[in-house]
Amino acid sequence: MKILVLGQSGLLGSYLAQSADKKDKVFFPDRNQLNIKDTQKFYKFIAENEIELCINASGLTNVYLCETNVSEAFKVNAYAPAECSKICFEKGVRFIQISTGFVFDGKKGSPYIESDTPSPINAYGESKYRGELFIQRDNQDALIVRTNEIFGKGLSTLGHNMMGYMITQILTGKGIIVYPIRTSPVYALDLSKFLWSIKDKKIKGIIHAVNSGSFTYVEIAEMISKLLKSKSGIKKRSDILKYKLPEDCSLETERFKELNLTELRPFQEAIKDCLKEFL
Ligand SMILES: NC(=O)c1ccc[n+]([C@@H]2O[C@H](COP(=O)([O-])OP(=O)(O)OC[C@H]3O[C@@H](n4cnc5c(N)ncnc54)[C@H](OP(=O)(O)O)[C@@H]3O)[C@@H](O)[C@H]2O)c1
Repeated sequence: MKILVLGQSGLLGSYLAQSADKKDKVFFPDRNQLNIKDTQKFYKFIAENEIELCINASGLTNVYLCETNVSEAFKVNAYAPAECSKICFEKGVRFIQISTGFVFDGKKGSPYIESDTPSPINAYGESKYRGELFIQRDNQDALIVRTNEIFGKGLSTLGHNMMGYMITQILTGKGIIVYPIRTSPVYALDLSKFLWSIKDKKIKGIIHAVNSGSFTYVEIAEMISKLLKSKSGIKKRSDILKYKLPEDCSLETERFKELNLTELRPFQEAIKDCLKEFL
């Protein structure tokens, strides 16, 4: 199968690269080789390389940057993916868009399922939600995979790869400061394997894919500290953020059963495997 993955230098993109099936011809152009905003180049790329599936793992993911540059956030997270998805529909190429639990306001009080109505509260969530709506309008065959808090051994900075940040801080004996919010994280390797497992399946619409379970950052930090037998402190941040974050954007799925798919493993198992990458 000939597959195009956008976002190769990102956290998810790097795990998609390491877990791709060698039998497939997977193209991982970087942003300079194929910028998602250059839709003419995108059209040429999929035509020349006879692409059959495009996975869009690119995005402007820094919530603060989206808040301060709303126009760029909408270009990268909404308008460009929508245009690319439309091109894919016209060319008979399957399109998978990676979206986020941040499309929800976080006030439900229990994990969101696919049929819940989004109501984003920050520019990142709004731009990703607009992307979802445009893609669904113009490409009835597209699949939108919503996920949360992707973790792995990548750029381990606060606000980017939260779990990576926690693990690095704990391993270097430094304390952790976290916001008291709840989420349902996913190990980038598990998400990648899931995406590869559905590459031939013609699944459409929206699907939620995270490791099972829902936890606060504090609970996650405590879990990691326990696994690493660390005594470094965990502090809850009480200062006001410059942007709004959904208090609980945890996801769960109703569609896995309907589609007869195997659910992703529990977070507690995934984090143990991920820790091995850091040791
Ligand atoms: N991280 C999470 O916790 C999380 C949670 C839910 C959903 N998601 C979604 O999952 C996807 C992957 O997330 P991630 O954490 O792997 O992202 P990431 O690490 O921030 O990587 C983003 C990728 O997008 C690329 N990119 C940015 N602008 C681009 C453009 N104009 N054209 C082409 N490529 C561009 C970046 O390239 P450069 O390196 O050149 O900038 C990078 O490869 C994103 O769509 C994100 O919205 C992420």
